[in-house]
Amino acid sequence: MKPTLMRPNPVGPGVSSPVVTPIQQSVVYASDAPDTLDAQYAGEAAGFTYAREGHPNADTLAARIDALEGAEAGLITGSGMAAVTAALMGVCGAGDHIIGGDQLYGRSLRLMTQDLLRFGLDCSLVDTTDAAAVAAAVRPNTRMVLIEVVSNPTLRIADLHGIAQLCKDRGILLVVDNTFTTPRSVKPFDAGADIVLHSVTKLLAGHADVTLGYVAARTPELRKAIYDFAVTTGLTPSPFECWLAERGLMTFDLRFDKAQATARILGDHLAAQPGVLRAIYPSRSDHPDHLRNQSVLGGQGGNMVSFEIQGGRDAANAFSRAAQGVAFAPTLGDVGTTLSHPASSSHRALSAGDRAALGISEGFFRVSVGLEEPADLIATFDAGLSAARDL
Ligand SMILES: Cc1ncc(COP(=O)(O)O)c(C=O)c1O
Repeated sequence: MKPTLMRPNPVGPGVSSPVVTPIQQSVVYASDAPDTLDAQYAGEAAGFTYAREGHPNADTLAARIDALEGAEAGLITGSGMAAVTAALMGVCGAGDHIIGGDQLYGRSLRLMTQDLLRFGLDCSLVDTTDAAAVAAAVRPNTRMVLIEVVSNPTLRIADLHGIAQLCKDRGILLVVDNTFTTPRSVKPFDAGADIVLHSVTKLLAGHADVTLGYVAARTPELRKAIYDFAVTTGLTPSPFECWLAERGLMTFDLRFDKAQATARILGDHLAAQPGVLRAIYPSRSDHPDHLRNQSVLGGQGGNMVSFEIQGGRDAANAFSRAAQGVAFAPTLGDVGTTLSHPASSSHRALSAGDRAALGISEGFFRVSVGLEEPADLIATFDAGLSAARDL
């Protein structure tokens, strides 16, 4: 049975039970005696105590994502960034060095390059398409490497297997943010990751109406460190958001497959249009990492497409105004296609030179493909391209 579709077990013989997981908003749980409460806090007895420490809707959602990731006892957090923060700060401490991909999600970059420094951690950012670059950045105190398998927004593919081998050889923890790729394309624990995390906000929940995260670890020790940090710092999710995400997760695989098929069609279409300087899609043969697309992602290209048009910011404004029906919004993984412009959003803090080094110009867009029919989407994008060309 598909783990996303399994319904709650009946509560007992002779009693009917809901098919849909009930929402349990209770902040606190009553137990019968101090001995029971003691055992629950110690993790020796089942049951809940206080919602910040855990609640049924979070556990149900976590179990479903665990089944997809091949994980055990994952934790739901109040956002994807809460999951990143818990993984890094729950495990690492002052004096530790962390290596991160130089194209990680913007707030992950900020956490590593600004916030963690105030707590005595150090970090280096490297090109994760090159395991040798990661190896060159390793120091005696390197404790962790954080990567995203497909980078944002240029959709480069990390050398997951090379980096996993390096981490194993050097006793370094590998953390994989699997938000873009999802367990439908890659299962990082199978590749050797120690910690896997998600912004559940994106493809897993899938409807742009929930902000949540997920983090799971290979060992009970790592799990406990992350859990304790998250509970102490209050990175807790709300039961209702967990319930919404669980509902979204029911259709995750269908949504992913449909969006991925359309993304491939859109990428090929864009690549052939006048005024488009380049279209980036991981499984296209002109993608710089297309061989790795096979070995790391099993040939799956995902639902993200990026492209660059001629004409700079003016053309970009004309494109997004004319591409009616596609939300110009800095998110991804929604049922509807969304368009983002990194130079004015996720990458606006970088200098133009630094953006250019990453290949992000004023005419660069990232598309998160949703569930529209390919022909409708192509018509919309063609309208945008035509407006940009007619300037
Ligand atoms: C790859 C990745 N990781 C983490 C995050 C943070 O997730 P959230 O917005 O749920 O905090 C995002 C958000 O866009 C993301 O794209």
